[in-house]
Amino acid sequence: MDYSKLITRNMPATVTTPEGAAADTDYVFSVTYTDPDTMPTAGIAEAVRIAMATEGQDLSRYPPPQGHPGLREYIADNLRSNRGANVPVDRIFLSAGAGGAIDTILEAFIDAGDTVLVEDFSYLGTLGMFMRRRANVVHVPTDDNGMDTDALEATIRDLARRGIQPKMIYTISVYQNPMGMTLSAERRNHMVEISQKYGVPIFENESYADFRIDGDPLPPAMTGIDDQGSVIYTSAYTKLLGCGLRLGYGVVPEALLETMRAFRFGTSPSHLAAQAVYGFLRDHSDSHMEAVSESLKSKRDAMLAALGEHFPPSCEWTSPKGGMIIWGRLPEGTDTWATLDAAVEAGVKYNPGPVFRADRTGRNYIRLTYSYHNPDEIRDGIGVLANVFERAGTFSDA
Ligand SMILES: Cc1ncc(COP(=O)(O)O)c(C=O)c1O
Repeated sequence: MDYSKLITRNMPATVTTPEGAAADTDYVFSVTYTDPDTMPTAGIAEAVRIAMATEGQDLSRYPPPQGHPGLREYIADNLRSNRGANVPVDRIFLSAGAGGAIDTILEAFIDAGDTVLVEDFSYLGTLGMFMRRRANVVHVPTDDNGMDTDALEATIRDLARRGIQPKMIYTISVYQNPMGMTLSAERRNHMVEISQKYGVPIFENESYADFRIDGDPLPPAMTGIDDQGSVIYTSAYTKLLGCGLRLGYGVVPEALLETMRAFRFGTSPSHLAAQAVYGFLRDHSDSHMEAVSESLKSKRDAMLAALGEHFPPSCEWTSPKGGMIIWGRLPEGTDTWATLDAAVEAGVKYNPGPVFRADRTGRNYIRLTYSYHNPDEIRDGIGVLANVFERAGTFSDA
């Protein structure tokens, strides 16, 4: 069969990624997996058993387009009590992970050539979705308090002068991926103000809001600050309860509901997964989050200690207050993209900085994740990684 004339003429743009990213390695510091040491397998098994006994018959039908009503109620309660956002249940839709909600929102917004604004470095999954759709991704300067909102406003004004109206401000406002910081309260207010003033919606991704380890409590979500329907929101239970459960959600402003209905709210996740997640969270949410936080703390501390021990002071590391990512800056001239092959060969993988930028710059940056391995493995794996960079000559000036 010759498929060349049959397949769509709208193939996605090619997005280059380093080959080693897909390799199997002993040490995986490249994915924000659910912490396997706190995976609540027994609790989820029990939640499934109860769900089958009480609402198992529901699986004979297709789920409602926006997903399990009980879980959506739970999400609305959680957003109210933990994120300061009063969101009616009918604006929430369940999705196949946060990634599913993001893909559906971008489907509704992004045409080739559209401009979007993101942090200095941004989550590679969403970046890939923008790039495959041929969007023009503009990175906005970002510091320890998150996206610099003065620079954001200046960028929007500059684009306007050139007749360009961005489609959205995409931000990972909590324990940012990959840079680790949280957008400050002051900047949240400013970003909402800018969004309303220039008519550019904010797409707020709070995938890591359940992963506070220490430090200050999180400022409220922008979807709660905004009063003009300017914020679209997404988060997920993937990182908390199992990436394989594929359970996330999106929240859209009232004015977008008709549009999202036309897109059928994307592909709904498994209703069985939604029943299980709902049952589990209803009974165990607080204790589970505490256990995860404690486990991640020991893993984060083990990784920071190992980095301090094995890497020279010329390498700088963030000290995240939550989430599962450490962001590093290695000496100028280091090429983390090129070194990945040698790292994979040695049995360890990470994410090179350029995968978080549309222009693939930032070669001396590196992202390490600490959720997957136990502290002993983390110590060993970081030792292996340091040897790789040592051999690559990264530390020669240290
Ligand atoms: C910021 C952010 N958003 C979305 C996702 C996608 O997660 P999932 O679709 O598994 O919920 C990730 C995964 O790493 C992420 O870091």
